[in-house]
Amino acid sequence: MTQQRSNAAQETVDRVRLALGQSTAPQGRPGSGPAPGGRREFDFTTLPEYEILKIWRAVGDITKIGNPFYRLHDGRAGNTTSIDGRTVANFSSYDYLGLNGPPDIAAAAKDAIDRFGTSVSASRLSAGERQVHRDLEAALARLSGTEDAIAFVSGHGTNVSVIGELLGPEDLIVADAVIHNSIVEGAKLSGAKRILCPHNDLDAMERALRLNRARYRRALIVVEGLYGMDGDVPDLAGLIKLKRRYNAWLMVDEAHATGALGHTGRGIAEEQDVDPTEVEIWMGTLSKTLAAAGGYVAGSRALIELIKYTSPGFVFSVGLSPPVAAAATAAVDVMMREPWRAAALRRNGLALLTKARAHGLDTGLSIGASVVPVIVGNSPQTVMLSERLLERGFNVVPAVFPGVAENQARLRFFVTSEHTPEQIDAVIEAVAEELPKIRSSSSFVSTIAGR
Ligand SMILES: Cc1ncc(COP(=O)(O)O)c(C=O)c1O
Repeated sequence: MTQQRSNAAQETVDRVRLALGQSTAPQGRPGSGPAPGGRREFDFTTLPEYEILKIWRAVGDITKIGNPFYRLHDGRAGNTTSIDGRTVANFSSYDYLGLNGPPDIAAAAKDAIDRFGTSVSASRLSAGERQVHRDLEAALARLSGTEDAIAFVSGHGTNVSVIGELLGPEDLIVADAVIHNSIVEGAKLSGAKRILCPHNDLDAMERALRLNRARYRRALIVVEGLYGMDGDVPDLAGLIKLKRRYNAWLMVDEAHATGALGHTGRGIAEEQDVDPTEVEIWMGTLSKTLAAAGGYVAGSRALIELIKYTSPGFVFSVGLSPPVAAAATAAVDVMMREPWRAAALRRNGLALLTKARAHGLDTGLSIGASVVPVIVGNSPQTVMLSERLLERGFNVVPAVFPGVAENQARLRFFVTSEHTPEQIDAVIEAVAEELPKIRSSSSFVSTIAGR
């Protein structure tokens, strides 16, 4: 996988060099030779990975395309945001229900600072717990419909640490091919046999389990409740049948589903009317709908107790900062009390999807909830489109190679309950106008992309 990635990266470098009229310089690629003077190995700028960054920067300079990543925002980013002092409509916020701002949520965070300070300084195991931690975990268990829950300081770290610890080399992990990086990293850490199945293909998962299950101790099936790249959903009842048949655990990552699915925003189980206790491991983030930072697992009391005493990312890492825990707890309360927010998000998601499709844009598999991609199929063109949209007053960050396959490069629209019909209409009109222009004019960019 790493070798494949670095070959693909080297090919990209070579293509860019050709397009820039440079030799592909097979003699002594950066980072590959001995160090003159013996110091080169300490210089990170000689690594091939760094060379790629430099070349993309040069391409950006020549084509006058700005870097679409790490844009500096001047304040809170909601359905609008200010970038360089200019207010634009924002489709790159995960604040799906507009909870990063209501005064009662901010007040809960401020009260927690007054009472407990900004940090608990160490792992809860040794530094002890604060009531804000217990309140949050009770709220997350209620939200998830499970016996208990446990909150970590990072969503990514939650997946890495929980999967990495629960599974081992004698186990099997069957996951969807487009599953989030944090799950892939956790699976790698575990050392378990890993099988990635084509996206949302239950038959392929069944085959993988049928052919392999008997040779392994534990088996885990992992899916997302709403896929962050494609905006579609799995068949939860079908997965439950599968895990029962093959005696596997089922884990569902609700990062993009919380707030977006189900009439009160409780996620895929509410959306598809499935008993949540049928899923062994619910995972979610506090960073998106819940307007904070961190991750959580919800499930049986025994699972949570096990994680509390064995998961390195929990045992050996600091407890959640009090204002963060308090903000997430308040966000759960507001979300449950105000179901109009989830309804508004769905209305907006569907409106954006319908409008994009009406313009013949490729929205892939999206059901029109929190995530709607517009697939461009060429990374440089996608970056150019993002740039043109910014010029026209819309912030939409691209997802490009190597984050996705080159022919799947896309703009991802994150829809929130706060977007207005005018913002949705205007951004899709702008995409429909700019994309054909970019496609017909970008010969330099096409060379880079190998087209
Ligand atoms: C599906 C999924 N799981 C986990 C994470 C990690 O969550 P966090 O950003 O809160 O660390 C993300 C982040 O985007 C995600 O999309």
